[in-house]
Amino acid sequence: MFTAVRVLRVVALTVPLMLCAAAAAPVPVLAPVRPLPDMSVGAGHLPAALVPLAAPVAAAGGGRLPAAPVGAAAFPLPGPHSAGLDARRVARSAALARVPAWRAQAGDAASLLVVVNKQRPLDPVTYAPADLRPADGVLLRTEAADAFERLSAAAEAAGAPVEARSGFRSYADQVRTHRRWVRTLGSASAEAQSARPGFSEHQTGLAVDVLPRGGACQDFGCFGATPQAAWLAKNAGRFGFVVRYQAGQQAVTGYTDEPWHLRYVGVRAAADVAASGARSLEEHIGLPAAPTY
Ligand code: DAL
Ligand code: ZN
Repeated sequence: MFTAVRVLRVVALTVPLMLCAAAAAPVPVLAPVRPLPDMSVGAGHLPAALVPLAAPVAAAGGGRLPAAPVGAAAFPLPGPHSAGLDARRVARSAALARVPAWRAQAGDAASLLVVVNKQRPLDPVTYAPADLRPADGVLLRTEAADAFERLSAAAEAAGAPVEARSGFRSYADQVRTHRRWVRTLGSASAEAQSARPGFSEHQTGLAVDVLPRGGACQDFGCFGATPQAAWLAKNAGRFGFVVRYQAGQQAVTGYTDEPWHLRYVGVRAAADVAASGARSLEEHIGLPAAPTY
């Protein structure tokens, strides 16, 4: 329930930060990005023969992946020295086997597995989730909010406390955010850091930008060098989040490095992304790169 204090806190924290949280971030100089192969055919993924023919697809709206196939795990392990390697291979096979189910949900704005980028606007573009709730002063979809609170408690216990600085942003919020970035940075830099309305993960209610709670770094420009950034890169997946915009991936994701931008996909899906070794959601499920609109 909203108390007056919480309402004020949500407004105070979200309105200024409806400017994409990269507010104070300097424009990074991009390293040359290695062009990726055409990912529309799932380069680097398992041969089709290893993908179950009838992978069950979760009902639209929730975003659930089917359970791991058990066949590969039934093979005997050759020896203890290779057990870790085999476990990783099994996890990767299982992760890739679930890709078709993820792809089937990636266009559904209400799915936890929706993939939004410069080539994939939300449908409808003015989409707003129905189950937003406050969490740490921002609004998130209920499941993402629950997960964020667990992540936040674990980060604090690990000595890397974080604070949510921006969560859900409506289409109208993003209109203002994007315009302000274009005015501030100029079009080219703004487009590399701020999504146009209808194209932002923040509009799904599944993305949250964080900064350290306390400490010297209180803006996005220094966040990448903090213990919090290192902790999130290693641990966010345990809570169902992926660090969505990674360094060197602008040619795929369309955006420069945002170590503070966490995208909730659920624990199973986040583990699958880690197991596949993909550096972006596009790479993981074999969508075309989306560097521009
Ligand atoms: N900063 C991210 C890309 C957004 O505006 O959604
Ligand atoms: Zn963000």
